[in-house]
Amino acid sequence: MNSNTLAPPVAREPRAARVSPLSWAHAHSLGSHHLRHHPWLPAAATLLSCGALAATLVARVPPPYQFVAAVWVAVSSFAWGYWKQANRRRLFPPLTHLHRRQYANPWDELPSSPDDARAAVAGPKDEQEFRTSANETIQNLLDLVHIRQDDKVLEVGCGIGRIGEALAKYCASWTGADISVNMLGHACKRLRGLNNIRLVHLRRVGLAEFENRCFDAAYFTDTLMHVDAMDQWQYVKDTFRVLRPGGRIFLDIIDVESEAGWEMFTRDATRYRQVEPPPYTPRFSTASELQIYLQRAGFEKVQVHHRSPLVIVTGTKPAND
Ligand SMILES: C[S@@+](CC[C@H](N)C(=O)[O-])C[C@H]1O[C@@H](n2cnc3c(N)ncnc32)[C@H](O)[C@@H]1O
Repeated sequence: MNSNTLAPPVAREPRAARVSPLSWAHAHSLGSHHLRHHPWLPAAATLLSCGALAATLVARVPPPYQFVAAVWVAVSSFAWGYWKQANRRRLFPPLTHLHRRQYANPWDELPSSPDDARAAVAGPKDEQEFRTSANETIQNLLDLVHIRQDDKVLEVGCGIGRIGEALAKYCASWTGADISVNMLGHACKRLRGLNNIRLVHLRRVGLAEFENRCFDAAYFTDTLMHVDAMDQWQYVKDTFRVLRPGGRIFLDIIDVESEAGWEMFTRDATRYRQVEPPPYTPRFSTASELQIYLQRAGFEKVQVHHRSPLVIVTGTKPAND
């Protein structure tokens, strides 16, 4: 895993702080939402305004009406150009009308095409680069929690199945769980053809969809950084419950104690100094935060592995639990 794989959707531009439902930021976000679903709107508005201007000229209506039509042409052409430019950069809108704990919404709203979904998950839109971005995590899972051929493995926050696609051949079964129906839809298409995988929609934070002691290993990668601390704790407790005795857990987060993690942290701190960060901005954390959750949940052999800018924490459920 490298810093490329930490890609959350990248905000197009920061929005004003303290977003209220009546604010410009809210209107902008909703406007972007509609434009993404009806991308023909700016072009249609421009053509319509050109038609209106032509009509005012042909019909020789009074100059104030011609002026209004000309202004409309200017505004709609500008909006069309702006929209095309923003689309070419393929950056994601900030969605600052959403709260961080509306976890599913950004992932349901933003990545509508396979290209966008790859970019939102891992940075590269290119299919080959996207696949390559999974290699480091796969190696870490094999090395640190020793995924075996007879293991039933769970990934929480599986996204579009980037890791599962490559990991499935190393284990008996791979289950991908995610809070976003949209991401699971992309995963479903992507993983078609693999016969030892299953996708599960999490209706809320936690693993209520799973029985006790049904997995040998569970991992979260590039996911907990999107989740609030209290909810991280809920996931750790639930993972303990769904693991068999002797089961292994693997978590990664962006390590604010590493040089690269600190650099990312300060960059975001500057960027969002006076503006509201998008709800999908990754949180920065430390190994001790995760260590304490694992220990408090009952895991033993809790270990920390530094993979700057990430830190990975692993643990084992006691054999007699
Ligand atoms: C950056 S993607 C990472 C996907 C995948 N783990 C990977 O590395 O390719 C983050 C994923 O976490 C999911 N997610 C965000 N908040 C979540 C939550 N509270 N519970 C479960 N999944 C969540 C999102 O829907 C998204 O699919």
